[in-house]
Amino acid sequence: MKRIILGLTGLAGLAAVFMGTGAFSTPQADPGLGNLTGDVARGAYLARASGCIACHTDVDGGGQPLAGGAPLETPFGTFHAPNLTTDPEHGIGAWTLQDFARALRHGIAPDGSPYYPAFPYTFYTGFSDQDIADLWAAFRTVPAVPQPSKEQALAFPYSIREGLRLWQTLYFEPKRFEPNPDGGDLHNRGAYLVEAAGHCAACHTPATCSARWTKRRHWPGPTAFQAVARRPRSMPGR
Ligand code: HEC
Ligand code: HEC
Repeated sequence: MKRIILGLTGLAGLAAVFMGTGAFSTPQADPGLGNLTGDVARGAYLARASGCIACHTDVDGGGQPLAGGAPLETPFGTFHAPNLTTDPEHGIGAWTLQDFARALRHGIAPDGSPYYPAFPYTFYTGFSDQDIADLWAAFRTVPAVPQPSKEQALAFPYSIREGLRLWQTLYFEPKRFEPNPDGGDLHNRGAYLVEAAGHCAACHTPATCSARWTKRRHWPGPTAFQAVARRPRSMPGR
């Protein structure tokens, strides 16, 4: 554990140096998105299949749908999935489709700061343009709930969000899901659900906070960050 902490402190420091040199660029907008019309029903289905509703709703605490999740305990501290309703102040009501795409496929907030991979964007990066447009259409229909999102309560050095920039550079590669041309429709449909939307490996692949985080692994992703101890009780659609 000590070694991990030392390592991550180093990473955070390095990240600060890199930032000073402007080594991190902000991902460009996704130009193809503007031309698509989202399908609300398909977006709602995807939101259920992808666990958005399960993580971003405090079911046990009697919370409103998508107004913020129950505490998500991990070895790094406690995450709280934020309010995703259309409330312009506390939710994502003031966001654009491009903001939404950048969060889901690049792990970057509208203000340019990086997200913790407890938000499984390392999998959602596989979403197609149409998936993003459909999800967005569905999220636009969620009633606004004026409830502030809770801060992430993480231990040092994980609490340094800027340290994630270096982490993203080293271990995260934005990449759409690519169907296997020899696989057939059924295989590819399943592979897509497992590797992108369903992010099964986030919970079903053991990992330590170390060298296993590599871009080359078949199961990409910072699974230790996503070490959700229990399967959320409500996983609608599963
Ligand atoms: C395993 C739990 C989990 C799942 C599943 C999940 N999220 Fe999240 N999400 C989070 C956490 C935790 C954060 C906060 C990350 C941070 O603070 O860096 C977050 C952040 C976000 C944000 C940024 C909100 C803001 O205010 O900046 C958006 C947008 C988002 N999630 C959308 C989605 C969508 C859409 C889905 C489904 C496709 C989804 N999430 C599935 C846990 C989850
Ligand atoms: C948020 C974490 C999480 C995600 C994401 C997740 N699982 Fe699970 N899964 C669990 C947990 C925890 C259990 C054990 C549940 C229990 O014992 O009640 C489980 C149980 C299972 C089981 C039953 C295994 C057994 O031995 O009984 C199967 C099969 C399964 N998951 C498949 C999947 C597939 C396929 C996906 C992706 C579509 C997936 N899971 C995504 C956490 C997750």
